[in-house]
Amino acid sequence: MMMRKNTLSCTRYLVIGTFACYILSVVLLMRRIRPDFANCYLHHPQIPNGSQQLHYVLETELFDKVTVNSTDLTNNTPNIHIPEKDIWQTVVPEKLFVYSAYLDTRQKDHNSIRIIAISHPKYAIPVYCQIWFHPSDHPVLVKGKLSALPEQSRNAHQAALIECKLERFPRDDQPLAASIVTESRDSADNLLQVHNNRIHSKRHYNFTVCLGGPLKFGLNNTNQLTEWLELNAMFGADHFILYNHSASAEMRPYVDYYENRRKLIEWLPWKLPDTIENPRRMKNFGHIGLVNDCLYRSMYHSAMTVFVDTDEFIVPRRANVKTWQEMLRQTQCLGASFVSVKNVFFKKEWPDDRMVATQNDRIKQLDLVTQLKTKRELKIWPHTSRSKYMARPENVMVTGIHKVWQFKGPIRKFCKLSEDDALVHHYRWWDDPRPRWTVDRFAHHYQEPLINRVEQVHEQVKGHKQP
Ligand SMILES: *[C@@H]1O[C@H](CO)[C@@H](O)[C@H](O)[C@H]1NC(C)=O
Ligand SMILES: *[C@@H]1O[C@H](CO)[C@@H](O)[C@H](O)[C@H]1NC(C)=O
Ligand SMILES: *[C@@H]1O[C@H](CO)[C@@H](O)[C@H](O)[C@H]1NC(C)=O
Ligand SMILES: *[C@@H]1O[C@H](CO)[C@@H](O)[C@H](O)[C@H]1NC(C)=O
Ligand SMILES: *[C@@H]1O[C@H](CO)[C@@H](O)[C@H](O)[C@H]1NC(C)=O
Repeated sequence: MMMRKNTLSCTRYLVIGTFACYILSVVLLMRRIRPDFANCYLHHPQIPNGSQQLHYVLETELFDKVTVNSTDLTNNTPNIHIPEKDIWQTVVPEKLFVYSAYLDTRQKDHNSIRIIAISHPKYAIPVYCQIWFHPSDHPVLVKGKLSALPEQSRNAHQAALIECKLERFPRDDQPLAASIVTESRDSADNLLQVHNNRIHSKRHYNFTVCLGGPLKFGLNNTNQLTEWLELNAMFGADHFILYNHSASAEMRPYVDYYENRRKLIEWLPWKLPDTIENPRRMKNFGHIGLVNDCLYRSMYHSAMTVFVDTDEFIVPRRANVKTWQEMLRQTQCLGASFVSVKNVFFKKEWPDDRMVATQNDRIKQLDLVTQLKTKRELKIWPHTSRSKYMARPENVMVTGIHKVWQFKGPIRKFCKLSEDDALVHHYRWWDDPRPRWTVDRFAHHYQEPLINRVEQVHEQVKGHKQP
């Protein structure tokens, strides 16, 4: 009798428990709470094989365990060569794409290869990394962990990071190339060079500037690009990484000049796979993937990496402080892990500064936005809202447009600069019904050298002076 009652109540609890779990799963599924839903799956630890659609379980412990079995792979050397420059490659049409691979040796207990990817949250694709240590050998197979990067719309394709852990390998073994596959025995038709920045450190740069979005839409404003590069170089930028989505042919001679003659820029293709070209399917042309690629690409090459757009300039604002180096020194932020700078809008639709436009033909001819547009809003935006930043790349794991999302120790100082120390001058069209404005001629401190530099560039590119 006792036994029976116990069994009964046990059954009842089981039924209620199962029902509760069902309701919970439905609720979680509807609300798409990722981590909890992933935990539910841990009770049924079979590895999804790709044909199943697991809703929104991108980041799951299931993929965490590392298997290493190179005898498992026989004839799966990819039939392709590593592209000369990184390009978007397809793993699964419409679902998974990869761009670049970086060896990350910053963890204590294992090395990782981090891969910049694009994926769709609806498809929980298991990913495997095939890693070549020697060109003739079989690749090593490990499970990869795919996690979406921050700041993205939930229902479109998302930029993501794939982590391939290399726990069981000697730390000094050098991976050469990596492919991503969705079945462990697949032979891949994507192949990425594994960048090893720590070993193959080129020259050391003080400030690398990452252009925060790809150059696109047949943009042919060579004046704007030249002004942006030269003014940043005056602040102390000695290296630039730019991504080309669809820059027009007019840009070509300028790109050649800066890439080959000046050796100041790295120019990378950023043509997205056709199926996700639509902005509704991929927010801002994958700019979150782009800034994270730039972060890893500049790591160990550059003391600081600066994240800004073509219409933004981080301008030091203290008297007699003209460079970022000096700005950091005076604010005791030299060597800081993170330096944030507040934003102000200079409205491009407001008329040119008359003093400049009438007195200086050269400025008007060269169309120098920072010199012509001096009317700005009084409002200074707070940190993390429109603000921009520079960071020490070795201290960052995951980064975003306005801030770093995940740091990696040992972390040095965090700096939030006051508006007296520096401002992001942001030149754009901007609707504000009741603008309170001021005239801000701070950028004129750079006027003469800027004019000379920009003129020289046009002269050297075109072989003659501007008309
Ligand atoms: C993958 O799993 C599904 C459902 O469990 C199964 O029907 C299918 O045959 C499996 N596919 C492969 C290639 O193993
Ligand atoms: C690798 O795979 C082979 C064949 O599938 C198997 O015999 C061997 O035990 C595996 N090795 C390891 C380390 O799992
Ligand atoms: C980096 O900054 C230091 C100190 O200002 C300077 O001496 C050096 O020339 C700079 N390096 C490069 C590559 O510009
Ligand atoms: C840019 O392209 C447009 C149309 O494609 C053209 O009208 C314009 O003159 C070009 N501007 C420059 C600076 O080349
Ligand atoms: C930029 O990329 C587009 C698309 O791939 C290409 O057609 C164009 O030639 C590139 N422009 C430059 C200046 O490299």
